[in-house]
Amino acid sequence: MVEQIKIVVLFSGEGTNLENLIEHFHGKRFGDKETVIIPITNRPNARGILRAKRYGIETHIIDHKAYESREAFDVELVRTIEVIAPSLVVMAGFMRILTPVFTERIEAINLHPSLLPLFKGACAIEESFASGMKVGGVTVHWVTSELDNGEIIDQACVKIEPDDTLESFAEKIHRTEHRLLPEVIKKLLKL
Ligand code: GAR
Repeated sequence: MVEQIKIVVLFSGEGTNLENLIEHFHGKRFGDKETVIIPITNRPNARGILRAKRYGIETHIIDHKAYESREAFDVELVRTIEVIAPSLVVMAGFMRILTPVFTERIEAINLHPSLLPLFKGACAIEESFASGMKVGGVTVHWVTSELDNGEIIDQACVKIEPDDTLESFAEKIHRTEHRLLPEVIKKLLKL
C-alpha cells in the first residue's frame, strides 16, 4: 500500500525553487511513500504557475489583492491548506508577511537567501553581497509571525569571491537553495 505524501509549496514569483521541488518530489516514490507537490501562489501572474503547468500541475491562486486585510487573506490561505491536508508546507519565495491567523494553525518551513539572523527581509542577496563579508548563504527555518525569525533547521554557506558580481553571487545562492531545500524536506519527511 503506497502512502501519498502531499507537500504544499507557497511561492510568489519566478518559481525556480518550486520547479526544483517538482523535479525532486512530484510523483516520486520513496520506499512505500509517494510524494506530490501542490503549489499555491498569491500572485495570478507569477511565473511559477507556468513552470508548474509544464509538468501538468495546476496552481491554487489566492490573489492577496482580493482581500481587505492580511488576516482575511490568511484565513483563505489556511482554509485552502487545511482542505489539502499536506504533510509539509514549504515557503519558497513566498513574499508575504504572515499573521498569527496563519502561523498559529499551519506549521511551515521557509527558505531564505542569507545566513540568518543576518539580512532578513526581501533584499537579502543584495545586502549580503554589499556587506563586505566573505561568505553569504542560505537558511531553512520554521515559520513564525516574526519575519525570518523562526528556529533554524539548516544552513549552507556560499563563498563571496573577489571576482563575483551580484549576478554570479545570486546564481550561486540559487544553486545552493536548489540543493539544500530538497535535502531538508527529505530529512523532515523521513524519505
Ligand atoms: C529565493 O531566493 C528565496 O530564497 C527568496 O526568494 C527567491 C525565490 O526564487 N525568498 C526570500 O527572499 C524570502 N524572504 P524562486 O521564485 O525562483 O524560487
